[in-house]
Amino acid sequence: MGPKSTVDVLLGGLKRLEYRGYDSAGVTVINDQGHLDTRKKAGKLSILVEDINQHPLGESHIGIGHTRWATHGSPTDANAHPHLGGKDHKLSLIHNGIIENFAELKAELLAQGTVFTSETDSEVAAHLVAAEYKKSGSLLESFRTVVRRLHGAFTILVLDEDEPNVILAARRNAPLVIGLGDGENFLGSDVAAFVEHTKRAIAVGQDEIVILKADSVSIESFAGAPVSHEEFTIDWDASAASKGGWSSFMAKEIADQPKAVGDTLMARVSSDGTVKLAELAPLENLLPHIDRIIMVACGTAAYASEVGKYAIEAWAKIPVSVELAHEFRYRQPILTKNTLVVAVSQSGETMDTLMATRYAKEAGASVLSICNTQGATLAREADAVLYTHAGPEVAVASTKAFTAQITAIFLLGLHLATVRGTTDKAELHQIGRELLKLPALIAKVLESSESVRDLGKKFKDAKTVLFLGRNVGFPIALEGALKLKELAYIHSEGFAAGELKHGPIALIEEGQPVIVIVPSPTDPDSLHAKVVSNIQEVRARGAQVIAIAEAGDTEVAKYAVEVIYVPVSHKMLAPILDVIPLQIFAMELSAAKGLDVDQPRNLAKSVTVE
Ligand code: F6R
Repeated sequence: MGPKSTVDVLLGGLKRLEYRGYDSAGVTVINDQGHLDTRKKAGKLSILVEDINQHPLGESHIGIGHTRWATHGSPTDANAHPHLGGKDHKLSLIHNGIIENFAELKAELLAQGTVFTSETDSEVAAHLVAAEYKKSGSLLESFRTVVRRLHGAFTILVLDEDEPNVILAARRNAPLVIGLGDGENFLGSDVAAFVEHTKRAIAVGQDEIVILKADSVSIESFAGAPVSHEEFTIDWDASAASKGGWSSFMAKEIADQPKAVGDTLMARVSSDGTVKLAELAPLENLLPHIDRIIMVACGTAAYASEVGKYAIEAWAKIPVSVELAHEFRYRQPILTKNTLVVAVSQSGETMDTLMATRYAKEAGASVLSICNTQGATLAREADAVLYTHAGPEVAVASTKAFTAQITAIFLLGLHLATVRGTTDKAELHQIGRELLKLPALIAKVLESSESVRDLGKKFKDAKTVLFLGRNVGFPIALEGALKLKELAYIHSEGFAAGELKHGPIALIEEGQPVIVIVPSPTDPDSLHAKVVSNIQEVRARGAQVIAIAEAGDTEVAKYAVEVIYVPVSHKMLAPILDVIPLQIFAMELSAAKGLDVDQPRNLAKSVTVE
């Protein structure tokens, strides 16, 4: 809302948020005649933009817009948001999340003769507010009544032409932030929606309603009690969320990794290698007594946690388990007051991870979140937060957030080891100094990535690609396989190399590409020799082996069709370098197949539904 042309602001904001969902898009504005004007289209935002260019919407200063990741009803024009409420269609509503009791509410409305035009749960909310408004004559009161009746997860915004100077918003279990401007105000699922207009933001809390006008903002609880929240300043620039000269956000974000890792280390490791995490102060009393760490996360963040597990156990000598957040709370995990739950999430809005965190807190455990997004729900709900400073990650496939997450978990491991005195100080300092070298080493890997790009093109018609790794290389094999699935839609699997002969080797046939993450030849546990044996085993059965190996590893070159060398680093830190060729491989393969690298099919960046 404000003096600027709403359509431009909405479409600009939606462009920045499109990574969150791109099945369909739509906007409603109140035009200069005082009526709602709604456009919505299935498909990517560009289709909506094209439609609006051909049939421009009139001048307006208030509006709402949405991009969708389909839950109820397939991606069609009719199911796209906004949804109109009431017979006279004077009310427009957008919704993120899932209204769990929508079937019963819909039955109620159908019995009253309401006609539905979509299959969505969201349209139910639009009709409910419109019906209440008819009765009460107050938009706010009817909105309050309806949101209190909804179960599940929702961020809902409504606009009504009979009260053309206000937008009402409500939030439960789905993100919502306010942008405070000068004579203009904004709402968005994340700050990217409005960062080009203002850096001042407020994160809306759970079960709160926002009453947004061009020159005022007030927040209240669902019960109607006033609420106040501190403002925060968005610490990144709008350009950080733009592609710059890169062919894709993913290409840019892969190249950003020296900075993402460097910024995550900044002010936390001194030049002599000492690690200090001031952010852990709220957990100070617990740290010496932790008897168990459970890391909860999903997807790529779970693989970062798997890498971190090796480091924390080795340095801090605390048992660590990594749990997929969506499985965690449904199997009655054992949690005590000395359990530290570490929730790892780029967005800080992943519903599965949030729910796991809430479960852990209720059971008496303390929660540390490792999060990349300022003001995210996870960061606010945890007892302490260790931010990764990767900057906004826009491409759906996570890259720089992954390496930044591993970095942050390494810092956690070193801090815990220091506090608990479990590893020799000199050794910890040496690892700290090795960490500081990472940004330069990543830059080296990026500089020498030409051969990986060629490999991506070469294997574009592969039906299956297998990834093998051992120890810290195992989660990297899993991550490499995930990147290939989501970006190139190629069936790929990651295995612990030692597991091969227990079954997966049956998959190997003539010409099968197998990518192997090879441990350092100086590995004290002789894992190098074991992995080289695995390479020989698959090669003997016809596999084409591509090895990711440490510079100077001549042994492996004898058995691989291609070796991608990465610089020598500390054994524990190698995953941060090893994953980069795998990210580039998946990106190039996707591009070679003519696919959308930034917005792979069926996915959304922020999974805010369970
Ligand atoms: C894969 C990917 C996902 C996310 C997962 C968790 O490239 O991006 O697997 O890692 O959905 O997301 P966050 O970290 O936001 O909780």
